[in-house]
Amino acid sequence: MNPAADAPILFFDSGLGGLTVLGPTRALLPTAPIVYAADYAGLPYGQKSEAELAARVPALLGRLVERYQPRLAVIACNTASTIALAHVRAALDLPIVGTVPAIKPAAALTRTGTIGVLGTEATVRQPYVDDLSARFAGDKRVLRYGSPGLVTAAEAKLCGEPVDRQVIARAVGGLRDQPGGDAIDVIVLACTHFPLLAAELQAVAGPSVRLIDGAEGIARRVADLTHGQPWPAAASPGIAAFTRSAERLPPPLATLAPYGIGRIETI
Ligand code: DGL
Repeated sequence: MNPAADAPILFFDSGLGGLTVLGPTRALLPTAPIVYAADYAGLPYGQKSEAELAARVPALLGRLVERYQPRLAVIACNTASTIALAHVRAALDLPIVGTVPAIKPAAALTRTGTIGVLGTEATVRQPYVDDLSARFAGDKRVLRYGSPGLVTAAEAKLCGEPVDRQVIARAVGGLRDQPGGDAIDVIVLACTHFPLLAAELQAVAGPSVRLIDGAEGIARRVADLTHGQPWPAAASPGIAAFTRSAERLPPPLATLAPYGIGRIETI
């Protein structure tokens, strides 16, 4: 049975990184009702344990699904997806689209055969990433580096604060300084926060390095999965829902308005 036209698409991340997935999805589905959920009480996911996230993410998504009744949920977070995607799919009865490191397209693009994967510390240690590397880049060298600093820098940049150049240099250096790292010609941005820093990362990595992420592919996947479903005739303002955090307030609405958000809720 088709969902109601006003049933939203739910995007979920620990913070504002998932906006980089929301953007291309809205470009394909401009009148789709949107709920963007950020787990500010749990940010940063990259510093959490597997067990913690495997419990937290399905439970929180369950609450969000109950509250907003989405037609589909996008886990717009590599850390949550590489750890908890299977748990979420087992717990919830709706289509779930995950975000996983774009190692397959990177393997097709590299000329040197050396790929860098920049993610959170939790993502880069996942067996999920071992598996993607073995399946799609078995004949390539895949170097990984986890940078919590980039997550903080991306959140700050979106809220109008200056980006710490040293954080960017340390992240690129973390890949390049590994044995064979100077041959990297493709860097996978394996955290949805990192495309918010694409210009800064590109400036440090140099013009011979391509940065790639999975957002466009996810947007196409969402469009495919909802193909033929009814949508409203015109876009309505989306909702952003933030879990309540003692340390971090939701950003001003002006930060989220370019992504079609018109209201902020704390949950
Ligand atoms: N945006 C998230 C990701 O794609 C993680 C950021 C964090 O909470 O550490 O991995």
